Amino acid sequence: MAETRTEDGLPKGFRSAEHGWPELRRIPHPPGRLPLLGDLIGASPRTPLQDSMRHARRLGPIFRRRAFGKEFVFAWGADLVTDLADETRFTKHVGLGIANLRPVVGDALFTAYGHEPNWQLAHDVLAPGFSREAMAAYHPMMLEVAGRLTGHWDRAAADGRAVDVPGDMTKLTLETISRTGFGHDFGSFERARPHPFVTAMVGTLTHAQRLNTVPGPAVPLLLRQASRRNAADIAFLNRTVDEIVRVRRSSGGGEGDLLDRMLETAHPETGERLSAQNVRHQVITFLVAGHETTSGALSFALHYLSRHPEAAARARAEVDRVWGDTESPGYEQVARLRYVRRVLDESLRLWPTAPAFAREARADTVLAGRHPMRRGAWALVLAAMLHRDPAVWGDGADRFDPDRFEPVAVRARPAHVFKPFGTGARACIGRQFALHEATLVLGLLLRRYELVPDPSYRLTVAERLTLMPEGLRLHVQHRTPPAGRPGRDGDPVPEPRCPVHPAAR
Ligand code: HEM
Repeated sequence: MAETRTEDGLPKGFRSAEHGWPELRRIPHPPGRLPLLGDLIGASPRTPLQDSMRHARRLGPIFRRRAFGKEFVFAWGADLVTDLADETRFTKHVGLGIANLRPVVGDALFTAYGHEPNWQLAHDVLAPGFSREAMAAYHPMMLEVAGRLTGHWDRAAADGRAVDVPGDMTKLTLETISRTGFGHDFGSFERARPHPFVTAMVGTLTHAQRLNTVPGPAVPLLLRQASRRNAADIAFLNRTVDEIVRVRRSSGGGEGDLLDRMLETAHPETGERLSAQNVRHQVITFLVAGHETTSGALSFALHYLSRHPEAAARARAEVDRVWGDTESPGYEQVARLRYVRRVLDESLRLWPTAPAFAREARADTVLAGRHPMRRGAWALVLAAMLHRDPAVWGDGADRFDPDRFEPVAVRARPAHVFKPFGTGARACIGRQFALHEATLVLGLLLRRYELVPDPSYRLTVAERLTLMPEGLRLHVQHRTPPAGRPGRDGDPVPEPRCPVHPAAR
């Protein structure tokens, strides 16, 4: 008989809530439940998170949904999430969309099960790649990539064209992580269309999300073509990464970036190294996790800044005051943009671009003193709703207001009510990287441009495990004649330098 238990003794595969929540019936579910479809009436496979947010508003801080015989518990009330953040009783649950990514990235950091030894190994080897020192070394490269973006936007401004915000933020963040982490130039700003790596990545993320909405036995039938495309996308991601590794190995090593760490660094205590297959999985993980969510965060922030001129004016005044006429702001000058950072935090509050994470019980326990859970039972934390819990954020929680992140206001709130980067040992390793990059770029853009929204645009949020404002375009106008080095009008457009796909434009 096939093995049906994981190494730590829990049932393998999807664990439906009725097995782990003895008092499940006390948790509300949407009305009108049907025998096979469960609570799927009115649900859209394209917007599972926003559907869950709608249910959350009607059903309260803990609720459940059922689809094709699988039952899920969702939690978002501040007291419940505070309890789920207790690392002594709960840990990360690798399920749903994340488990669906295992065929792509195996036991790399993001997708590893807690009991898999490669998590600790990779964490210990790679964490120093996010130290303050390492971050300061990435800063000049981040500036250089931001210069590509402003060069691109300068040309759009000169031609009177609107800019494609999510598309350009994706180019920016992909180039930033690929150059700082892996010494690789995808040539994104020199391409008319997204780099094929991005297309393949979006394909695998979308596929992983869709797998949640189709009953397991029907996958070969309903998603046959999509599964074939997904296999081709995975093969493409692998080939791209293998080439990046080959180039690095043949060059004899880089300057101590993430890829060097993956290839060269032994664990400080055990002396163990990452295997070749694990390196491949880690590189894909970092290239994807390192740009997709940050590009969404920047895009939402730019949307809100364009719609809130008073916030944009305050942020701009701060940039002018802190940076003065420094051509290239230094590493230390970025963290001093406190109001810009609040704009970013507030955007991540309203639309945390990784909008949910799952927590499972380490042993039998009672959640928030009310809901018994067996070992291995899990709940999906809806960060997007936690961040709007009126008990914490007040009645106007849907309103954009960066002053919620004034230090006094932050201190007055409980500890676990703002979780855009997850929680505990499995929280985001790239948090500082993302915040530094995004604050720097917002500062540079605010200093250089007025952001002019399209009055007819209504925020539409696209979901592919992560969130992105769909179709967001802005007109950008120079505030003052462009000063300094980043991408002045008339600069020659550099040739694509991607060694993997030199011809694609
Ligand atoms: C605004 C940007 C970002 C957001 C909102 C974000 C959010 C998150 C969240 C919520 C988790 C935990 C997921 C879970 O519990 O299942 C996570 C984990 C992770 N993130 Fe990020 N992230 C961002 C940027 C980055 C960057 C820039 C990198 C790399 C350079 C990165 C790499 C990772 C990795 C490797 C993990 C897995 C960590 C582990 O389990 O040990 N992320 N991120």
